[in-house]
Amino acid sequence: MAARRTSCCHLLKNKAMNRLPVINKLIFLLTVLIVTASCTSKTDVATPTTRKVNFNTNWQFYLKNNATEDSIGSHTKWRTLNLPHDYSIEQEFDENSLAGIGGGALNGGMGWYKKTFSVKAEDSLSITSIMFDGVYQESKVFINGHFLGKRPNGYISFEYDLTPYLKYGENTTNEILVKVDNSKQPNSRWYSGSGIYRNVWLKTTNKLHVNTWGTFITTPMVTKDSAQIKMDITISNSNTTAQQINVQTNIYFKDKKITHFKDENLKVDAQGEQLLTQQITLENPKLWSVENPELYTAVTNIYINNTLVDQYTTPFGVRSFTFDLDKGFILNGEQVKIKGVCMHHDLGPLGAAINTRAIERQLEILKEMGVNGIRTSHNPPAPELLTLCDEMGFIVMDEAYDMWEKPKTEFDYANYWEAWHKRDLEDLILRDRNHPSVFIWSIGNEIPEQWNERGAEIGHELAAIVKAIDSTRPITAAMNPPIHTADPSVTIQFEETADQPNALAGSGALDLIGYNYAHQTYVKHQINFPNTPFIATETTSALETRGYYEFPSDSTKIWPVRWDLVFTEGNDDNTVSAFDQTRAPWGSLHETTWKIIKKHDFLSGFYIWTGFDYIGEPTPYVWPSRSSYFGIVDLAGFPKDVYYMYQSEWTDKDVLHILPHWNWKEGQIIDVWAYYNHADEVELFVNGKSMGVQSKKDDDLHVMWRIPYEAGTLKAISRKDGKKVLEKIVKTADKPAKLQLSADRSSIIADGNDLSFITVEITDIDNVLHPTANNEIYFSVKGPGEIVGVASGDPTNHESFKGTQHRALNGKCLVIIQSTDKAGQIEVTAKAEGLQENTISIKTTNL
Ligand code: GAL
Repeated sequence: MAARRTSCCHLLKNKAMNRLPVINKLIFLLTVLIVTASCTSKTDVATPTTRKVNFNTNWQFYLKNNATEDSIGSHTKWRTLNLPHDYSIEQEFDENSLAGIGGGALNGGMGWYKKTFSVKAEDSLSITSIMFDGVYQESKVFINGHFLGKRPNGYISFEYDLTPYLKYGENTTNEILVKVDNSKQPNSRWYSGSGIYRNVWLKTTNKLHVNTWGTFITTPMVTKDSAQIKMDITISNSNTTAQQINVQTNIYFKDKKITHFKDENLKVDAQGEQLLTQQITLENPKLWSVENPELYTAVTNIYINNTLVDQYTTPFGVRSFTFDLDKGFILNGEQVKIKGVCMHHDLGPLGAAINTRAIERQLEILKEMGVNGIRTSHNPPAPELLTLCDEMGFIVMDEAYDMWEKPKTEFDYANYWEAWHKRDLEDLILRDRNHPSVFIWSIGNEIPEQWNERGAEIGHELAAIVKAIDSTRPITAAMNPPIHTADPSVTIQFEETADQPNALAGSGALDLIGYNYAHQTYVKHQINFPNTPFIATETTSALETRGYYEFPSDSTKIWPVRWDLVFTEGNDDNTVSAFDQTRAPWGSLHETTWKIIKKHDFLSGFYIWTGFDYIGEPTPYVWPSRSSYFGIVDLAGFPKDVYYMYQSEWTDKDVLHILPHWNWKEGQIIDVWAYYNHADEVELFVNGKSMGVQSKKDDDLHVMWRIPYEAGTLKAISRKDGKKVLEKIVKTADKPAKLQLSADRSSIIADGNDLSFITVEITDIDNVLHPTANNEIYFSVKGPGEIVGVASGDPTNHESFKGTQHRALNGKCLVIIQSTDKAGQIEVTAKAEGLQENTISIKTTNL
């Protein structure tokens, strides 16, 4: 019998607004105000609509170990900067870094931030708080010398009430001091970054207000014709007298008010809290889906004596879903295979410092490949990531922890587990439960306790914490299968025959059985777990260097040979072939994995390790490598070839991609692969001569020719019913001659945040990409912009990501330009010795 779980809907919080194009935001806010004003005769005030302002600019920073909050003030070497900020990415790569190669060979340390600000006299009647989206890690915050609190978890969002300690008046200043302690290393298995690396907000509300994360919208019933929308609103009153309030929530679709909850009059006790639960039926709902991620917004207005005192915005989506034992993931009644990727939080050359456009670019590149799911491995993500996933249509597995009580590295979160795990998990669920893109909560990744009863106990405890706040989504954990094996002939049974049963898997605490790797066991899932659906929480761990190829391409390499053995094979230059032929011993090749997931309906989907390369964990190598090889896309955002295998399988686009490049030794035997779709066959030509026609047989995902190399032109033609679908040409490049620049966006906003990602290609004189060129490229900028990152996707490069020069990898390099707050024209020039330089213009506009 199928286990079914019908859910839900959601939506997030007012942060969704942060991502709408500015003009849409203005139109929306204006509409909200006009509609609010026109549908009531009550007196509106503007202030409640600007509850939260960005508090990122003009901080002072000082990197100083062994200082104390008392001694730090006497130091004079403070540097002024804007947040978000990552002080690890600014440092030099260091083979002996305490963070280790796994941590990206970048150091942490103790970082100090301070900011002075004044608060208007009239705000003394309000509540003022500071909100941090994430600080890595062990932060302590002080206001005017008063200790507000500490937060060890580096990924969690938190808030402190400043009101009792503020000095008011335009001519009076307050000082916030933040201590960040990332000096105890190692504390992470990947690059964490250091500092106030996410956004900071200053929030001002009336003493009567909706709590932070204080709304929860669910959809208990959804059909194509109508949906029930249920909304919980928690309202606080920090006045010394009870307040009689009037609550009105309007629902908007795009910028149009479409319906509203019934007006409610309530009394909220002095220093009290009140929960209001309301329900309405929405006719003809626009359902949130991966293809059409339709979003609604609920705007809650609270009035006291006809005056608007608070306004809270809750974006949400309407969708139903279930994980079916036989049919996998069902969204709005339709079967949807989850084609997801795991992502770490770093943004390549930008480090951990979040930038909304940089996250959006990653998601655009993944969407273009056909990805429809993101796993926030292995920690709470930036709120902006979830907002983007809501808007772009991704199925998110939101993950809480990489460890529980037992540590994985000496100074990790296990040290704080006992005191903090409940609070951190509650805050994560409260913060993220309104996002329609969030479908699965993961309570942990490869948790050591999973093998014993303690794992089952903690699993139950965490599941209860989650369910108490949100019972509409399934809970999983990314477990390990009970026996590690690289031998596909070994049958792994979970509960019955395993030497070491997985206590967490068998505990009944999980709604979805999720485990990492062991793809050979997937077919047995329905036997091992007849009552619990399955999600492949993490798969693959195949390895590639972009643009580097080894022959023969059809032999599989297991690198390293075993997870606990030192890797002695491999290449002197720490490269890995970009043919899908190399995998970690616990992993599987891309094609092998997708073939299994594709074949069985009951496998709801998978999250591939990983979508993008990330800093740290450079398996199979160690130093000089400092970043991963697992990505389908490299650290600079350039796709590796296997990207097109997925694109040919997962998108409606016509795809024909051939590899490798066409610069080899005369006569060398070369394997040429083609990924294609929407065609019956592909014919390959070398300098006009046919090398034969190939077709995919059975479950093949590519075709291959083995041919002798001859310089010139490699051409592939895909045909359907004898008619050409696509043609692809790869030419032999002559020696490197020019630099060619192209920008992902040639016009950006002059807001000091927006980015243009500029790709540099090294070509020959005829504009053919030189596939092995690795020239050192020097960048310069004129006008209102600055270089904020450089990268090539080479895991062994030790030049700073924050510099102005970088060595290209296999013909390509990236420079990231950030706007300032001045509009104008930015000129970016790339130069390299012996090559024709080039300049590109980026416009920045105020909008
Ligand atoms: C997994 C782990 C990931 C990453 C990956 C590399 O076991 O969950 O965090 O380490 O291996 O293959």
